[in-house]
Amino acid sequence: MLEQMTQIEQEALTALGSVKDAPALEVWRVTYLGRSSALEQVLRGLGQLSKEKRPAAGQQANEVKRVLETAFSVKSEEIRQAALEHSLSQERLDVSLPGRHLPLGRLHPDTQTLRELYHVFGEMGFQVFRSREVESDEYNFQLLNFPVGHPARDMQDTYFVEAGERGDNPIVLRTHTSPGQIRAMRWISAMNPENPPPVRIVLPGICYRYEQVTNRHETQFEQLEGLAVGPGITFSDLKGTLTDFAGRMFGSNTRTRFRASYFPFTEPSAEFDVECFLCAGQGCSVCKGAGWLEIGGCGMVHPVVLQNGGYNPERYTGFAFGLGPQRMTMLQHHIDDIRYFYQNDLRFLEQF
Ligand code: FA5
Repeated sequence: MLEQMTQIEQEALTALGSVKDAPALEVWRVTYLGRSSALEQVLRGLGQLSKEKRPAAGQQANEVKRVLETAFSVKSEEIRQAALEHSLSQERLDVSLPGRHLPLGRLHPDTQTLRELYHVFGEMGFQVFRSREVESDEYNFQLLNFPVGHPARDMQDTYFVEAGERGDNPIVLRTHTSPGQIRAMRWISAMNPENPPPVRIVLPGICYRYEQVTNRHETQFEQLEGLAVGPGITFSDLKGTLTDFAGRMFGSNTRTRFRASYFPFTEPSAEFDVECFLCAGQGCSVCKGAGWLEIGGCGMVHPVVLQNGGYNPERYTGFAFGLGPQRMTMLQHHIDDIRYFYQNDLRFLEQF
């Protein structure tokens, strides 16, 4: 048996000498180290040897196996190296070919404006609070002092979500970010109902209205709501905040104006206008000849709304505003039609 093993070893090593590539090496491995190889059969036959002969035969069989496995590894590495050298000498990398151009993505102008707004209001101490796009009639209207049948609802005709019979409280797509005022005040006042903490937040997001689409009106548009509640907040705080905001956003010489207006959830209320950059106040199709562009509504939070949010109107006052970020992007970049924002036209988007 010892002789047989020496013979297997020599035969295997001789055969390995003529192996030149990976497939031939695999055939060699199966023949000399595989489960049906002559060596395996010898190993299996060890049990039939006498007790005295078994240890020496076992030792030699293991030694032959080790020698063949080492030779296999060495040959395998030789073949791998030879293949690598072959490919390095035969194949060439042509570094003169121009690379493939990978177009870089960019942020949508809406996102860019929103981020700028968060920055400007962040510097004034406002935090971002996110609220839901699908709202109940109660939050979108009733708690904001628009009872069922109130004529001011006509200003914000909306889309309804099919949600079964809900009486006077159907599910709607929010028409403005103002319902977030109630959600935020309730959430913050719940932290300490006896002595609710002050609020200073901006609420961004998409709103939906059943609108006649024009170059200034879309059925889907962005708003950024602002809300400040605390003891002793006055209308001059509101004017100061929005005037300062316009200076930071559009430049310190920007002219602004407040026009008396009406919203059920603020009293008094105003529209906030910025001079039209497109025509420098001369009047154009975007500002409808007015020379001013309305970028938001604002006012002092109505006592009923404060109460609905968990703030006692005897102790707290507050101001709120709702801005149209897309109207601002239009002003900043001289865009004359709001419809470009959602058309996904690369000729428009790639300019930002
Ligand atoms: C409101 O939506 C009030 N919730 C704003 C408010 C908040 C008032 C807090 C008082 C206190 P208004 O409908 O005016 O107001 O919309 C506010 C701004 O959203 C507008 O000035 C305009 O910039 C933008 N906006 C409104 N409707 C559209 C539309 N269809 N397309 C594009 N922008 C719009």
